[in-house]
Amino acid sequence: MLPPGAVIGIIGGGQLGRMLAIEARRLGYRTLVCDPDPHAPAAQVADAHLPGNLSDPAIMRDLAVRADVVTYEFENVSPSAVEAAEAVGRVYPSSAVLRVAQHRLREKEAVARLGFAVPPFRPVRSVRDLDDFGLPCVLKTAASGYDGRGQAVVQRAAELPEAITRLRSRCDLLIAEQLVDFALELSVICARDTHGNAVCFAPGENHHSGGILDLTVAPARISRDVAAHAGRIATGIANGLGVVGLLAVEMFLTHDGRILVNELAPRPHNSGHHTLDACAASQFEQLVRAICGLPLGAPDLYGPAAMANLLGDLWPPGGPPLFHRALEVPGVKLHLYGKTEARPGRKMGHLTAVADTPYHAAALALEARRRLIPERTDGLSGSRPGAHPAAGDA
Ligand SMILES: Nc1ncnc2c1ncn2[C@@H]1O[C@H](COP(=O)(O)OP(=O)(O)O)[C@@H](O)[C@H]1O
Ligand SMILES: [Mg+2]
Repeated sequence: MLPPGAVIGIIGGGQLGRMLAIEARRLGYRTLVCDPDPHAPAAQVADAHLPGNLSDPAIMRDLAVRADVVTYEFENVSPSAVEAAEAVGRVYPSSAVLRVAQHRLREKEAVARLGFAVPPFRPVRSVRDLDDFGLPCVLKTAASGYDGRGQAVVQRAAELPEAITRLRSRCDLLIAEQLVDFALELSVICARDTHGNAVCFAPGENHHSGGILDLTVAPARISRDVAAHAGRIATGIANGLGVVGLLAVEMFLTHDGRILVNELAPRPHNSGHHTLDACAASQFEQLVRAICGLPLGAPDLYGPAAMANLLGDLWPPGGPPLFHRALEVPGVKLHLYGKTEARPGRKMGHLTAVADTPYHAAALALEARRRLIPERTDGLSGSRPGAHPAAGDA
């Protein structure tokens, strides 16, 4: 066991690393964040910052020497650099897990090998590879995609050549997946310790907008059987891959009740941010516990919760959003990541609410977000996002 006071090395300085560092410090641990940017969200709150390129094996070795245990908050790290850290220290989840989770083809093959369902898929390098593959499909770069980047939905065969050429300029290997007409997107975050004990948070339902997570509602509004099934899938994959730390499993629930695994993330996940405010042990605390050899915490929710992302699109050109108006909504919590530059699609923060029903929690978080945007005074409407459809289908 690594007792409080030990140093947790974190590869990557984004918001996931920031929330991890805050939770680690609350538990009495020290944190060393490795990121090229000294002002990165996690570097701002860490005990120490190690500047450097995350693909540099020498930097990773240095991190592992200086820390008692190392984890990553970011998947697009070179596995060979992580192996360099592993050669001199403890890294959780292992570089072997990272290699699978950061590559969409290896990921889908691994999930299928473990006996869990995935959408029909195939590797693609040219149009000919898709001769007998049904459309519509989603083309994705095998590596380095996130927040819907590196993807194209293809409806007609005539669109394939352009989409393949464009995506292959980012990554030589592509994967085609059947476009799933899902009823709901779900995610389960599983924490697993070095002894193989695993604990899952309740499935969340995820609503995306433009390929980016917009709203998570937990527990997902699904039957007990489906929730239990989703939990078994996440636990089965975490066990099968031998994950120590966290594994987030994104899934599609089909209209006929099947669950198809979409993707894996061996790190804290955006769809688990509500656990900071709705659980005794958040996903970040579970990660600290898992990698430091402490017992895993209880994953129960204090109550139904919702999390609404705040993207840079909400930042008006003239100044910050109206945070004071959002904070007038009772019970809503604001989390900001310390990013100074707001860009469209950039995750700047999130709002969470815990309430008596999932519907009510979603309504509170969305009402707080709506208030961030100034009312128009010219009588025109349209610049303000309306109520989110997800809040209405309780
Ligand atoms: N095969 C698919 N069928 C239907 N929708 C998909 C499919 N793959 C991805 N999507 C949609 O795009 C979103 C982002 O894709 P995902 O594979 O999770 O990549 P990332 O989150 O890394 O950008 C998903 O959450 C889902 O809404
Ligand atoms: Mg995803």
